[in-house]
Amino acid sequence: MTLALPPGFRFSAATSAFQIEGSRDVDGRGRSIWDDFLEAPGAIVDGSTADPACDSYRHPESDVALAAGLGLDRYRFSIQWARIQPEGRGRGNLVALDHYSRVVDLLLDAGVTPFPTLYHWEMPVAVEADGGWLNRDTAARFAEYAALVVERLGDRVSHWYTLNEPAMTTLQGYATGALAPGRQLLFGALPTVHHQLLAHAAAFEALRAGGAQQIGLVNNHTWVLPLHDTDADRAAAHMYDMIHNRVFSEPLLDGMYPDLESLGFPPMPVQADDMARIRASLDFYGINFYNPTTVTSAAPDSPIPFGIVPTPGVPVTGFGAEWPIMPSALRDLLVDLKRRHPQLPPVIIGENGASFPEPATAGRVDDQNRIDYLTGHLAAVAEAIEAGVDVEEYTVWSLLDNWEWADGYTQRFGLVHVDFETGERTPKASYDWYRDLIAQHREEDAR
Ligand code: FCB
Repeated sequence: MTLALPPGFRFSAATSAFQIEGSRDVDGRGRSIWDDFLEAPGAIVDGSTADPACDSYRHPESDVALAAGLGLDRYRFSIQWARIQPEGRGRGNLVALDHYSRVVDLLLDAGVTPFPTLYHWEMPVAVEADGGWLNRDTAARFAEYAALVVERLGDRVSHWYTLNEPAMTTLQGYATGALAPGRQLLFGALPTVHHQLLAHAAAFEALRAGGAQQIGLVNNHTWVLPLHDTDADRAAAHMYDMIHNRVFSEPLLDGMYPDLESLGFPPMPVQADDMARIRASLDFYGINFYNPTTVTSAAPDSPIPFGIVPTPGVPVTGFGAEWPIMPSALRDLLVDLKRRHPQLPPVIIGENGASFPEPATAGRVDDQNRIDYLTGHLAAVAEAIEAGVDVEEYTVWSLLDNWEWADGYTQRFGLVHVDFETGERTPKASYDWYRDLIAQHREEDAR
């Protein structure tokens, strides 16, 4: 199938450090909030730890070879703050900086542009002990960390993601407690929105001062659908859209928070020139998209003013009804975002992909379901481009099967199968499909 993607469109695949690296106690690494979280009884469905995961810290060259084998333009990976600043402040840990420097060199030698993320959901426990994202000072500490990294890698890396999905950190890390740091503050988590966006802006400034050229943040977006066409369900959907999408996108794209007070929430802890800094902090806008969310009005005794329910009439991924498959939702949200924000910077899809039940032991996986999912979403991107949205890049989550946070090893998202007992990597059918798609696109570009 040929997809109508424009010439020069770029292809990438992603991983994140804690999900693939293992080696949690080497080279002076400090403790991160995920080391604490995974030890809490019942926090991880299969009771697993992220060690050895894909053992990528010890063998980065095998991941780089797989990325290069696909013909990727770029590879999205992340850097662990707790490796660079084990205590969350002070000088950079040189051994860890050397490690990431080597990853960068391996990628460049293989012809793949390194595209690191500075914060993919983990911070040193020392920063969390001071309040984590509830504390405004964390923004400045994050910028210090960014400065250390760009000082070491900035001669070779010019493309950076600052934060991955601040919405998930707020909603699941601080509001419900499903992810680290496991706080259950419900709407008391809202200040973490502003402190993360401020951290992004401060890191943007530090990276730019270090010579970075392309800097952005990647937000998780969902397309919110009311279950019934009733006032109550539409109001619940509006509320959910605010706290999942718009409270994170509008400050970046318009320099303003949406009207939270009319929904009964306290105002954000904004000071002086915060909003101007946040607004001026994007060379591109990153979007991670997985699924739509169907919302209904809250159950009478619920502490939350909406209910999330299965999306009727669509297939699902390995997560079941929690992750409905609806590629048109990606097109619709991109078109809607451009309509709301005519000055939208170039968009990069920073993650898109699906898990399906697959065997644990090494072997070829014929994952036509994943190929269908990815094809559908790439077609949705092509339609959004056709409708006038400037999408420049698409990233598959994930290059490799890995440790899926609270779901441990039970959800496989990779283009490459990983046997976590032996470390053996086996490209799936989707790997060959993506490689061929990229090659075909390059041929068309050359014509
Ligand atoms: C995203 C995360 C990524 C992975 C995928 C499945 O929300 O950024 O680390 O867990 O979901």
